[in-house]
Amino acid sequence: MTQTVRRKHEHVDISVKENVEIYEKNFFDEVDLIHKALPELDFEDVNTSTYFLGHKFSAPLIVVGMTGGYSLAEKINAEIAKAVEILGIGMGVGSQRAAIENSSVIRTYTIVRKYAPNAFVIANIGASQLKEYSIKDIRNICDMIQADALAVHFNALQECVQPEGEPNYSGVLEKLKVLCDELDIPIIAKETGCGISKEVAVELEAVGVKAIDIGGLGGTSFALIESIRAEKMGQYDVSLIGRTFAYWGLSTVISIIEVRSVTNLPLIASGGIRNGLMVAKSIALGADLAGMGLPVLKAVLEGGHKKAVNFLERTIKELKVAMFLTGSRRIIDLKRQPLILSDRIINWMKQRDIDYKKYTEKRMKA
Ligand SMILES: Cc1cc2nc3c(=O)[nH]c(=O)nc-3n(C[C@H](O)[C@H](O)[C@H](O)COP(=O)(O)O)c2cc1C
Repeated sequence: MTQTVRRKHEHVDISVKENVEIYEKNFFDEVDLIHKALPELDFEDVNTSTYFLGHKFSAPLIVVGMTGGYSLAEKINAEIAKAVEILGIGMGVGSQRAAIENSSVIRTYTIVRKYAPNAFVIANIGASQLKEYSIKDIRNICDMIQADALAVHFNALQECVQPEGEPNYSGVLEKLKVLCDELDIPIIAKETGCGISKEVAVELEAVGVKAIDIGGLGGTSFALIESIRAEKMGQYDVSLIGRTFAYWGLSTVISIIEVRSVTNLPLIASGGIRNGLMVAKSIALGADLAGMGLPVLKAVLEGGHKKAVNFLERTIKELKVAMFLTGSRRIIDLKRQPLILSDRIINWMKQRDIDYKKYTEKRMKA
């Protein structure tokens, strides 16, 4: 087992067994939709279908990339693939670095297309690894799963608090630009738990990124996962640094607002999305899809794709309830719903020069 693969295994193991989530920081409780006592529509008329990067989704939901590279990961990817194919939504695979390093694990990713021939599938590579790999390597990992898009993930905090981390981000933007120019499929810039600010969103759009997964603070915390790993490895100082930065980043809600205030690019909201009401709030805030990670991983490990389908169906039902209760027949109507944001969020917007009224108008145009 290579170091990369062992680490991937430990990430899954720790995230399902330990408490690695920071819900209190996602800020969904600081956002309210307005209840409509008279929705003037029937529940069965609510339609959750939507388009993302030209692909039709039955609901604005995607299972974000988590794993690959070893036998349990193959099973996990297969079960997630079956679930998303049944539901008509999308999924990502975890970092494909392992497949570049060792061709014998390629099947742990390709399995996805066996079970999800029609779903929107996203390939995945770390931003800091772009310097190591050629365009051909990146094309190969996309082709191996006939990817509809490539997620380039940003994990600067994780690299700092990971015992064997490589926090090397100089020159990444230039590499990203070359990749955007060369690759035939759209590139999604994806954070992994610290969110994306408006300044970074502008830089990403300028180099040709076609969508952003804001990956905000308030769900699975890689600072905590790595802190637990470091502790198990006897690296107590590294472990404490992870704890110190467990709350670092832009909350999921704040990051959607920041990014949507400066761009019309398609957005995925992820980081702590745990039910359909959070999906509804994300869409109303300006996201196009909501992404879920750990809850789907847990469901798959507990009861395979059936349990995942069950969980995701409930999530979609909750989204429909929120749409019904706001009188939103379609996703576009949900995007136009008025929102009440807490003082904390308004204060953040003021300090960040985001005009609340202008933001609301921009969001509604999306
Ligand atoms: C076990 C595990 C492994 C992950 N591996 C990757 C990865 O390889 N690449 C990536 O872009 N994100 C990875 N992520 C991050 C997720 O895509 C997502 O950003 C994060 O889990 C937040 O969503 P959640 O709160 O719904 O779990 C991983 C998450 C988990 C739980």
